[in-house]
Amino acid sequence: MPEVYNPQLGRKQSYPYEHRQEERDWHWGMVINTNRCINCNTCSFACKSTWTSGKGEEYMWWMNVETEPYGGYPMGWDMRLLDDLGAEETIFEAAEQGERVKGYVAQKEEWEYPALGDDQVHGEYPEDEVVESDPQNEKYHDIWQFYLPRLCNHCKNPACLAACPRKAIYKRSEDGIVLLDQERCRGYRKCVKACPYHKPMYNPETGVSEKPVGCFPRIEEGNVPRCVSSCIGKTRLHGNINRGPKAGHPNGKKSAAKGRSPINYLAKSDEKVALPLYPQFGTRPQVFYMPPYHVPPEFLTQMFTPNTDQKRNDWPGSTYEESVKIIQQRVRDPSHHLLGVLQLFGATTRLIETYNVKENRVKAGTGKERKSWTCPSRRTSKSARARSGPTNREVRVWTKHPNATPRPEATTGRSRRTTRRRRETTRRPPPTTSARRSATRPAPPSTAPRRARSATPTRRPWPN
Ligand code: SF4
Ligand code: F3S
Repeated sequence: MPEVYNPQLGRKQSYPYEHRQEERDWHWGMVINTNRCINCNTCSFACKSTWTSGKGEEYMWWMNVETEPYGGYPMGWDMRLLDDLGAEETIFEAAEQGERVKGYVAQKEEWEYPALGDDQVHGEYPEDEVVESDPQNEKYHDIWQFYLPRLCNHCKNPACLAACPRKAIYKRSEDGIVLLDQERCRGYRKCVKACPYHKPMYNPETGVSEKPVGCFPRIEEGNVPRCVSSCIGKTRLHGNINRGPKAGHPNGKKSAAKGRSPINYLAKSDEKVALPLYPQFGTRPQVFYMPPYHVPPEFLTQMFTPNTDQKRNDWPGSTYEESVKIIQQRVRDPSHHLLGVLQLFGATTRLIETYNVKENRVKAGTGKERKSWTCPSRRTSKSARARSGPTNREVRVWTKHPNATPRPEATTGRSRRTTRRRRETTRRPPPTTSARRSATRPAPPSTAPRRARSATPTRRPWPN
């Protein structure tokens, strides 16, 4: 097998094919902020109604949201493979004789409960105290869960592509989207077995397999995928993962301006805040996750890093656990530049190709047009923190939606002056000093002893 370099692992690994450079330096990429996801599954239904509503596709959820640490679709999809892999072994290197990829086919019953483990938390509720986390002082929630949206990663080393003996799966050179040619497919299901993320699925009605298509018809028109545009939590940003002024539009148009891609900044720059899901599989996934900052880093290390003792890649810190801690801190206490980029999440349904953060404005080029949004400055967020305490700070910043329209000043038939006078007369009297003090005073600290923290699972149990 040829050897290819995997920057997510920081080493060479075996893969059946040599790498090919994408045309125009453009590659499909996505960043998901897990801290914003509320498990509403709007993305899942938007994807299902667009792509998999036909016969034989009933169980196909190309986009699904799982509750960590106990959810999984199919059941325990990741744990089974992780348990079978040796240390520092990718699924290509662990393949058995005569196979190209190590994998397994999930049984029918494992596909039957897409919401199993949803809303199941890890840990026990303390009965007599408020649960707070303070990662800065190494204090995380005793009980925790978080939501993990899962989709095809349009990997740079796709396992599905490597495994197909018919060469029915290919990676488009214009944007790196991995597609399955159903005319060539003969239903061998090697792709179904090989993909560690279990996204190619077999259709018993047609006798051929299907896999997520990265919403390529929308991408070709300069729009973001359905799961991105429909996300009410504004958790996602989609665009070009490749860096450089050569970055252009996948349909061949030149980019609006030279500049960096926001996806690239979040996932690949020196200030990265987004990590790939299970990079140890060796497929180089191109969906990146901003990790939840309330979850203990040991758990996130096994999920979002190569999870080896020897750290080889250029991520921050000297160990992978340290990388996670640093990134959690960056997400929790964002820099001014990151605050600007966060305004772009869900801000437009057009593909953002380039962006620029300057003072308190973030400007973005979407191919046809250039748009700009207000970017809350660090000074604003610090004063907000001073007023409302550190836990509310992020909410304050993030709920300031860039597209929010100001409320109309006056209704028809009434002059502005009249409205102002009416407001002045109906305004409530200011609170007295003592009332104000009691409203802002924090609750007295609990004197009850803190319950011992339950052990963090480093490996998730197989759901019963
Ligand atoms: Fe193929 Fe699976 Fe990677 Fe998607 S996530 S490109 S289906 S290996
Ligand atoms: Fe190939 Fe998968 Fe079809 S392995 S033949 S694409 S079922």
